[in-house]
Parts: sequence; structure tokens; C-alpha cells
Amino acid sequence: RKKVWLDCDPGHDDAIALLMGLYLPQIDLIGVSTARTLLLYPPQRAAHPPQVFGNTNATDTYQNAVRLLHAFAAPAHVTAFPGAVKPLIRVARIDAEIHGAHGLGGTEGLAPFEHPEVQKRVHAAGGKGAVEAMAAAFSAVEGKLTIVSTGPMTNSAALFSAFPHLVGKVEQIVFMGGGVGLGNRSPVAEYNILCDPEAAQIVFDLPVPKVMVPLNVTHTAIFDEDAVTQLVTRAHPSAHKVQLSSVPTSPLRHTLYTLIHFFASTYKAVFNFDGPPIHDAVAMVYVAHPELFEAKRYRVDVELAGLHTAGETVVDLWDYRKCDDTWGPTGKNVLLTEKLDVPKFIDLFLECVDKADKV
Ligand code: BDR
Ligand code: CA
Repeated sequence: RKKVWLDCDPGHDDAIALLMGLYLPQIDLIGVSTARTLLLYPPQRAAHPPQVFGNTNATDTYQNAVRLLHAFAAPAHVTAFPGAVKPLIRVARIDAEIHGAHGLGGTEGLAPFEHPEVQKRVHAAGGKGAVEAMAAAFSAVEGKLTIVSTGPMTNSAALFSAFPHLVGKVEQIVFMGGGVGLGNRSPVAEYNILCDPEAAQIVFDLPVPKVMVPLNVTHTAIFDEDAVTQLVTRAHPSAHKVQLSSVPTSPLRHTLYTLIHFFASTYKAVFNFDGPPIHDAVAMVYVAHPELFEAKRYRVDVELAGLHTAGETVVDLWDYRKCDDTWGPTGKNVLLTEKLDVPKFIDLFLECVDKADKV
């Protein structure tokens, strides 16, 4: 099994990545860290920001992670650690347009952070922060660890800046982020990269394999109505084709149904999508099933200074720069995923729910 550390900012699709990290048989989830999700606007736009209102803060992403570990019946040794409360350099704004209040808007059935069973998981973390906990995990691991990054990359950038020798313990960094000529929080910038572009560039320059799961791929990973029906009715095959609201379902399926329902409604309102893209879970699935993807290596950098393009992932599609085959600052540093077998991805998610439902 691949040993994985999940660095995330839950977040609806982060929650699904976490569930799959816990239940995909190919993955051994070692730990979870969280970071604040912050949306930056270039200064010249600050006077006229788009109509977005607060995503969520570091306390929420951390508390959500612990509450989700409890809801998903994670083994007691899998704990969450709170991480960066701000990007490395940038001024931050907050954005709740997609994830609603406290980052998991609309999601029903999660125990509150104060619940004694949730608090047991808090105490298990021993008061460590994300970078400290990641450093300890990387130092202790036999062999190498994979990082799955589904939020801003601030924690990873801080970790490897402070402990450069730990780079040797990294198998690969699989991140959901960026786009090829495509953005979701500016015409060309994707949210996770835009939140902390300097952190992303630091990670892109690390001399280890990086796998990019961009919007171009995650926008195909849509949880459509058929998938919703399966999610709710799968435990009750005889309930096929009845009103979803009248189908008896498990507490876990109810939580996931309400989570996806909310995510679908914001993606409809903001992007006019029919069904939400389950961005972050795609990165987790890459670790378990790389054969479901088409991918190719390129040089990728982050636009750190653009007037209209800050936070863009600049992909050298034509090898204009004639980069070498290393993963570091002079090389084709990123394996870019370009296509996903979506039906198999959805099946894997539903199989994970089946497994989690039996725990
Ligand atoms: C990314 O931004 C967040 O809203 C999601 O959780 C995902 O990680 C998509 O751009
Ligand atoms: Ca995320």
C-alpha cells in the first residue's frame, strides 16, 4: 500500500478525498494536515472585488478535518494537524461562495467539534502543528511518503524549506491545482494555486516527482444525478427509481448526500455546472489508480507577477524552454494528467462509501 499524507482544506471535495484516502485499499493514510483557504485578488482589483463572501478560516478547515475523520470512522491513529493560517506572502481575502458557511455548508449529520469522540482525536494529535507533524511523519516513515495536496501548498512549502533533507523521503506530490489555459477564480488562475502562488512555485521546484491534477481533468469528474441516485439507493437495491427523499439511507449516505447536494447547488449557481466536479478526490485516486489517467511531463511554473494572470500555472506545452528530464528548477518538473476514466472514478467513490458504511 502507498503511504499517503493528505494536506487539505475541507471543503466538500476535500472531504471526499479524505473518505477515499481512508477506504481505497491501495492507500495507507498516515496523517492529515489542514491549511486556511484564502482568495487573493490582485491589488488593482481590490477596490472592485467579485461578489464573493468569505470561504473559511484555519480553525474551520482543521475542525472540519477532525469531524470528518470521526464521521468516516477513521482508525484512531489517523489524526489531523492544524497548519498555515495565512499564505507565505500574499494579502488574503476569504471566499465562501463555493463551500458555504464554515467550509462544509449544507452538510448534515457531522458531530460537533466539541463532541467527546471528536475531542479524543484532537488530543491524539498532542498539540502538534502541521509542519511539525509532517516532519515527524517523514522522518519516521520506512521508505517514502506521498503527499496528496488538495488546498493551498503553504504547509508543504514551509516543511521542505525548513527541513530540506526530508525531500529525500518524498515518493511524489500529487496535487489538485492549476489549469492549462483555464481558471476558476480568475480567467486563468485556479483557486488552490491562486491562494498561495509562491508556495506552489516552491513546491514545483522541489526535485521530486509532482503530479498535477488540473481543472481541465477535474471538470470532467462530475457527480451527476445518476451517481447521486446510486449513492443513496445502493444500500437498498429494491429502492431503485423511487423518490430519493423517501429512500431509507444510512447516516453516512445522508451526510454525503447533503454534502454533494450543497456542492451541486453552488456549482450550478456560480458556474452553471450540472453536477459538481469532485476535484480533490481525483488527486487521491491518482495515487491508487494511475492507470485510469493519461499524463505527460511538462515544465510548469506559476505566474507570480501578472497583471491579469497572477496564480496561473504556465505549462510549456511545446517544450519551448528545452527543459531537461529532472524534476527540479531546470527540468520538466510536473507530470500533467490530461484525461481520466470518469465512470471508473465514480465507481471507486461508490465502492469506498459501501466499505465505509459497513464500519
Ligand atoms: C479547489 O478549490 C477548492 O474550492 C476545492 O476544494 C478544490 O481543492 C478547486 O479549484
Ligand atoms: Ca480543496
